Amino acid sequence: MSNIGSYEEKVKNFKWDDCEAELGYKKGDIINIGEYCTDRICRMGKGEKPALFWQGYTGEIKKYTFNRMRVLTNTIARYLKDLGIKEGERVCLFLDKVPELYFGFLGILKMGAIAQPLFSAFGGESLFTRLEDAEATAIITQKKHVGKVRKILNDLPRLKHVIIVDDDGSKPLRQRETAFSMETAASVEDFEIFPSTAETPSVLHYTSGTTGKPKGAQHVHYSLISQYITAKYVLDLTDEDIYWCTADPGWVTGTSYGIIGPWSNGITQCVLDSGFRADTWYQFIEDHKITTWYSAPTAIRSLMREGKELVQQYDLSSLRHMCSVGEPLNAEAVIWSGETFGLSFHDTFWQTETGSIMICNYPGMKIKPGSMGKPFPGITADVVDMKTYEPVKKSGTVGLIAIIPGWPSMFRSYWKNEEVYRSKFRNGWYICGDRASIDEDGYFWFVGRDDDVINTGGHLVGPFEIESALLEHEAVAESACVGKPDPVNMEVVKAFIALKPGYKGSDELELKIMNFIRKKLSPLAMPQEIEFMDSLPKTRSGKIMRRLLRAKEWGEEIGDTSTLEDNE
Ligand code: PRX
Repeated sequence: MSNIGSYEEKVKNFKWDDCEAELGYKKGDIINIGEYCTDRICRMGKGEKPALFWQGYTGEIKKYTFNRMRVLTNTIARYLKDLGIKEGERVCLFLDKVPELYFGFLGILKMGAIAQPLFSAFGGESLFTRLEDAEATAIITQKKHVGKVRKILNDLPRLKHVIIVDDDGSKPLRQRETAFSMETAASVEDFEIFPSTAETPSVLHYTSGTTGKPKGAQHVHYSLISQYITAKYVLDLTDEDIYWCTADPGWVTGTSYGIIGPWSNGITQCVLDSGFRADTWYQFIEDHKITTWYSAPTAIRSLMREGKELVQQYDLSSLRHMCSVGEPLNAEAVIWSGETFGLSFHDTFWQTETGSIMICNYPGMKIKPGSMGKPFPGITADVVDMKTYEPVKKSGTVGLIAIIPGWPSMFRSYWKNEEVYRSKFRNGWYICGDRASIDEDGYFWFVGRDDDVINTGGHLVGPFEIESALLEHEAVAESACVGKPDPVNMEVVKAFIALKPGYKGSDELELKIMNFIRKKLSPLAMPQEIEFMDSLPKTRSGKIMRRLLRAKEWGEEIGDTSTLEDNE
């Protein structure tokens, strides 16, 4: 029997108050995610239960119990407080998937600051934009990444502390740098946890849109209620489970379901700090006897490519439940996983802004391969007309996915960008920015994004950010970036570029520009293909028509371009 039992019954009887009661929380109480994931679990008698099995890329393994995690998160919290970091200040985590990332996240929350996790693969410019916008006062990083921080430090006067977690003393520290090792620092048994309440800011996750700089979706400690209950009902986590979330905490999946959801449920989880390799992944599942697995379509499609034969070389009999998020999970992937593992991947849909799973497939509920499933109990989701924002009502009609605001983990603002935040709410709905339809049985079917954001391997990349960076290249006069179909990553970035006089398009220049973006932004933002053009198609008002270029890549009917121009 699954945790959720009958989906229909749960929808009928669901109350957020019951979830609060389950967590021993009453309105107005102190609620601190750091405390709930560590101290509370220890108080429940699970102090000696493993919280984390961590495996590095060299094969090194580290194990931590809930009690050890409690003490280490205290130790980090105390260190940050002693540095002078105050409640509400932003502390950035710029680390590989090392234990310090996970415990640092909880330590920051325990002392009342706001955690800002960023991918360690980010280049200087991506890092700078987000640190500057968040006005972060500290960054926690590793020796291997500190070089990127050093290069931008002079332009970040507010960033007072650069904390290096693995400094070995071999080289002198530079300005604002400080060395801290959570393992060798004096252990802090008792820490006075910051008395945060429901609306106290907790996490700032940056996400890309079509226009402007990336925006910081700001969450609060009360998000715990949603993250706890969705981890329980959707991931179906129980006390005996060994859970693996493959996502990096630079991405919201890696915090909501790689930290908060599982640990607030007192679940043992595994982390593999290495890149994707099918054989390593299967070995990891076999070695740790992983039972529940949360991954993404790109990874699943990569596994499909490696074939069933590889799967048969491993004992994966421990697996009992598998979920996926980030991009449409194609029907083939659902069917393949059913045939290969004897279990189907359950698609889940949500966003950085929603903070927790909104629409998904539940254990025990019939899966329609290719469908995202149904709204989480307690969530009212619908598809609304693109102009009137009224529910479309008729099954099969495509419109925008919309959710009634007010669930616990809904983002509370975009950092310093109230206007864009407000623009996301229409006619009483939160508008996700995705198109879908609902069938006669109430299942949601994803159609596509309603903007120009590129989804590559589940990661959203803003075309504007890449285009701005491209303009910094000496040869580029103007550019437009769109998503191009890709069998594994769903989309990859394709750039259309008009060169400055005196430059000629060549393979060599293409490579140089690609590398320029990889270093400045990230490997994900790097165009996989560049097409040089004499000039780019524009609207009458002079805006570049990305949609036209995109339609060309997808082989879609372009139709009457005057309407495209009007839409701009
Ligand atoms: O376009 C949808 C796509 O990813 C977007 C959210 O991206 P992000 O904020 O980075 O968060 C991703 C992880 C929660 C959505 O607006 N997306 C996410 N899940 C799905 C999806 N598209 C189709 N099917 C999904 N299951």
